[in-house]
Amino acid sequence: MKRIVILASGSGSNAQAVIEACQNRDIGAEVVAVVCNVEGAGVLERARKLGIEAIVLRSPPPRDAERRAAYDRDLAALLEAMQPDVIVLAGWMLILGPAFLENFPGRIVNVHPALLPDDAGETVATSCGHLPTLRGAQAVRDALHEQLPVTGATVHLVTDIVDAGPVLLREEVAILPNDDEVSLHARIKDVEHRLLPQAVAMLIGNEPATVEKEGLWETT
Ligand code: GRF
Repeated sequence: MKRIVILASGSGSNAQAVIEACQNRDIGAEVVAVVCNVEGAGVLERARKLGIEAIVLRSPPPRDAERRAAYDRDLAALLEAMQPDVIVLAGWMLILGPAFLENFPGRIVNVHPALLPDDAGETVATSCGHLPTLRGAQAVRDALHEQLPVTGATVHLVTDIVDAGPVLLREEVAILPNDDEVSLHARIKDVEHRLLPQAVAMLIGNEPATVEKEGLWETT
């Protein structure tokens, strides 16, 4: 069975979607742990309720470069011991540096609450023409601020350029006239909860049909 470790900092609705997809065998893998950098974050409770080990590794202040690099090394060591095939960033609000990333090339996926382009450029092609690429932590707020007609959700591989790795899946979400950050983010998350498990299944290369087939072979 392939192994997934989830990194998350917040409420954990995306982490829950991945855990449930594994438990329902929509993904042919198991979530071995959730690691969170924030004490008391909602994801910890969610993971434990679903029977998944939830570990807190508190991150230092972002501006303390030395301690941040040390944190990346500690996090890498923690995860290496878990032998993950895929690492899922599900609302992980910390930028990971080379001391972490170089240990898991091509094995880390991230979900981002906006449309990201294939070419790491400053615009993204949409059904409403080319629109500005929204990277960073305020992408939902920025979509409203820029008065865009559409935004969306993207799942991509993580590289050392933030929110710019190869795109696995992406889907548009229309921005409605009365949307505020909460209502828009809720509709984006609905899409994320579908896209993220699907992208993880693709990356693991074990689609539901194959998992079912393997199950049948085992029992006959
Ligand atoms: C998601 O919208 C994700 O795209 C962003 O942070 C949010 C996390 O939400 N990176 P949750 O903690 O999974 O509910």
